[in-house]
Amino acid sequence: MLSSRDQHWNPEQYGRNASFVSELGAPLVELLAPQHGERVLDLGCGDGALSLRLLEHGCSVVAVDASSEMIEAARALGLDARCLDGQALSFSNEFDAVFTNAALHWMPDPEAVIAGVWNALRPGGRFVGECGGQGNVAAIVAALDAALAARGRAVPCPWFFPGPETYAALLGAWEFQVQSTALFPRNTLLPGDVGGWLETFAQPYTAALPPEEREPFIAEVVAALRPLLCDRRGDWRADYVRPRFHATRPIAEGG
Ligand code: BEZ
Repeated sequence: MLSSRDQHWNPEQYGRNASFVSELGAPLVELLAPQHGERVLDLGCGDGALSLRLLEHGCSVVAVDASSEMIEAARALGLDARCLDGQALSFSNEFDAVFTNAALHWMPDPEAVIAGVWNALRPGGRFVGECGGQGNVAAIVAALDAALAARGRAVPCPWFFPGPETYAALLGAWEFQVQSTALFPRNTLLPGDVGGWLETFAQPYTAALPPEEREPFIAEVVAALRPLLCDRRGDWRADYVRPRFHATRPIAEGG
């Protein structure tokens, strides 16, 4: 799920504030079209909720994530879950598909990720995924940057949010046959106010502050975002933008 060293994952907090992540992953599972008996790698599996869906389709699933806490939660679901950095995969020609939802933006070295995915796939295998793309959570990032700047601090954006051309080029460099890398806006209903999202996901920002300043910092960011992300009914939506991609490692290479 991540390689940012200031981000820590708590499955209980994640379940409370971010269960929408796997719920909104259903169309991506459809795009993957998992077949009974296929061997699938779930890259950045988090708590394993979507790996479990793949298992229910009759796939043999290996679920990997860089967070040992999330891997423990995934194992508790009965999954073959392994604590691995997605930027250092060492599988070889063994998966029919690599699936990834809402994880790649935590991995700042996409070339390393894609090399590992290519090697993990058998020829003819497919790579299907979705992550944050160019412009993702732009309002949230701007509010975080402004509140930090008011405290004389700055944090470089901890997330990799590629445009569709960038991701197509990264895949093309490995000769993936790219069916689509379409980018689409998806304002995403949050289970509460954006404070839960910030506590769960924005730790690379809050880590720049002394612990006693973090709560007021988050409250200030929530207040700044209210006019932008909260509607009249009190529902909060995060300003997500996703590239969704489908690529295939060709059967005949170098042609
Ligand atoms: C996302 O799913 O778009 C996302 C989640 C956490 C941090 C940044 C982006």
